[in-house]
Amino acid sequence: MKKDINPFIMELVHEIRSPLTGLSVMLDSIHDRLSGRPDEQELIVKALYEVERLENLLSEYLTDTITYPSGFFAGKIENIIGDILLITEKRCEKNSIRLIKDLRDTEMRMVNAPKLKQVFINIINNAIESMPDGGALTVSVAEEESAAVVTVTDTGSGISESELTKIFDHGYTSKPDGTGIGLHTAKKILDAHRAETLVKSEKNKGTEFIIRFPQI
Ligand SMILES: Nc1ncnc2c1ncn2[C@@H]1O[C@H](COP(=O)(O)OP(=O)(O)OP(=O)(O)O)[C@@H](O)[C@H]1O
Ligand SMILES: [Mg+2]
Repeated sequence: MKKDINPFIMELVHEIRSPLTGLSVMLDSIHDRLSGRPDEQELIVKALYEVERLENLLSEYLTDTITYPSGFFAGKIENIIGDILLITEKRCEKNSIRLIKDLRDTEMRMVNAPKLKQVFINIINNAIESMPDGGALTVSVAEEESAAVVTVTDTGSGISESELTKIFDHGYTSKPDGTGIGLHTAKKILDAHRAETLVKSEKNKGTEFIIRFPQI
């Protein structure tokens, strides 16, 4: 996909992303300063969501360029997850979702941290969106048999067997305002980490994403 994309466009896409990241950080900080004003906070959360969507669309152009080892540095998966839990906590609070986290120490491994953050934001957003009436979200990380294993479990709407074969397809969405790019991009980034991705789901019960990161 898009292998012949103009280098100028690649650079432009890349350059647009940095201020977007800055914008997210600032919006996050404004959110915290507005404590006690839930209506204003809600607007900020919506703005953050829009920034993320834009980041996702742009990343689609850049994802093809992710190949190990370029952009990969030694890091720990639990720290990457830790960095996105703040925003996850806020979203969960707003949506009456109980957040259960269990982040254990894992080995250092080669990771592209900004890309992996995007992967987990996508998976967690989907989990939150599957629980419009609240529920529980469990996020755990642990070292198991020389792999860092991340699990993200929700008690949401679940995915039927036939839908399960399509969730990573480019453009597949069941949501009226979805782009269907989130999981497609996530899978490419996980593949570049040689991670194994397993999805277990039961309609109306919930979904579990299990991702195993080997040493690369
Ligand atoms: N945790 C989940 N629970 C239920 N359905 C899910 C879950 N994760 C993914 N899905 C299904 O997979 C589809 C594709 O997900 P993906 O993140 O790629 O796109 P989207 O969420 O529809 O759109 P966008 O991410 O652009 O908002 C979703 O529309 C949904 O049907
Ligand atoms: Mg999504």
